[in-house]
Amino acid sequence: MRRIASRVSELNGEGALAVFSRAKELEREGRSIIHLELGEPDFHPAAPVVDALRDAVAAGRDRYVSTRGIAPLRQAIAEYLRETRRLEVTPEQVLVAPGCKMALSLAMMALIEPGDEVLCPDPGFPIYPSFTRGLGAKAVAFGLLEKNGFAPDLDEIAAKITPRTTTLIFNSPNNPTGSVFSREALREIAELAEKHDLWILSDEIYARILFSGEYESIWSLPGMAERTVIIDGFSKSFAMTGWRLGYAVAPEHVVDAMDLLVLNTFTCAAEFTQVAAIEALRDSTHAVEAMVEEYRKRRDLFVGGLNGIPGFRCQSPGGAFYAWVNVEETGFRAEEIAKLLLEEAGVAAIAGAAFGPAGKNYLRFSLVSARHLLEEALERIERVSRWRAAVAQ
Ligand SMILES: Cc1ncc(COP(=O)(O)O)c(C=O)c1O
Repeated sequence: MRRIASRVSELNGEGALAVFSRAKELEREGRSIIHLELGEPDFHPAAPVVDALRDAVAAGRDRYVSTRGIAPLRQAIAEYLRETRRLEVTPEQVLVAPGCKMALSLAMMALIEPGDEVLCPDPGFPIYPSFTRGLGAKAVAFGLLEKNGFAPDLDEIAAKITPRTTTLIFNSPNNPTGSVFSREALREIAELAEKHDLWILSDEIYARILFSGEYESIWSLPGMAERTVIIDGFSKSFAMTGWRLGYAVAPEHVVDAMDLLVLNTFTCAAEFTQVAAIEALRDSTHAVEAMVEEYRKRRDLFVGGLNGIPGFRCQSPGGAFYAWVNVEETGFRAEEIAKLLLEEAGVAAIAGAAFGPAGKNYLRFSLVSARHLLEEALERIERVSRWRAAVAQ
């Protein structure tokens, strides 16, 4: 039999899905599991969004549509980014795709050549280095370390840029650490990008889930709209994970290139979800604000509780909905603790190495379950006291 193309062997999966499968298996055996492994909000889209979807399907909005996305949605996205991020973006600079991941992979396919070096955060979203390698390029990690508050070290990034470096990918607020890149860090990244003629992929999927201040996008810095691709979408901010709707904002010639890739692959995102997404952006019930407020309460509750557990250490995230916990002082490996938590305590979390080598002493908990479940999870974690004994020694 002929072999599968070698690029596939360069790809990796996502740790969260493996833990989720095992957690489901335990549930089938009758065990109670608190799911804190997937980055999937327990919220659902606001009622007017669901109504808009229903109406759109009933009205026959189920046709092939523009490969770039329907014009009213692209217009609405440009206005939304002006209102929420003060960005100057035209509808011609917007391309709609089925999910942020698809927008991301289209951008990467359009911009990255085999042999290129691509800077990716460590820890970070595992798809960045995976898809980079799948394109025949080399993923070069830059650290987001606890001693720096999980902020990028610009000297490290500068030292890792070579003549082959073409692209820098980052995600602020960051999955998994929850760190938000400061304006100063963005300015320094922008300077490096100008100096070395780099593309910037700015994954802003958590931009709305921010616990203080206003979101700063690198796109708004002088000269950066020419070399930046913003990735964003509806999965997290509007709790629409399964709707599969995301978008990229890019210079028009990059959108043209991505558009050709759309035509050669999935043709278009579903029309009815795009129609309903306009309603999501309108946010007539202020659902986003309410959701972020709830995430803030969950963060304060859970991070506070974790810091009371011997051997656990967790900085309070500035955005996104994850708790990134250092467990080194428990004396156990993060994988062992994740296993113990799942198998004995019924709490599903992910060992941090799934997000890169810098995550090896960490666990990621997603704050996507109600507060009473988070309280229950904290109690269960405390009850599994094996590592406490190790700490006490
Ligand atoms: C940083 C980051 N980018 C992209 C995605 C994927 O988004 P989507 O579900 O819209 O494809 C995720 C999902 O977890 C994410 O954490």
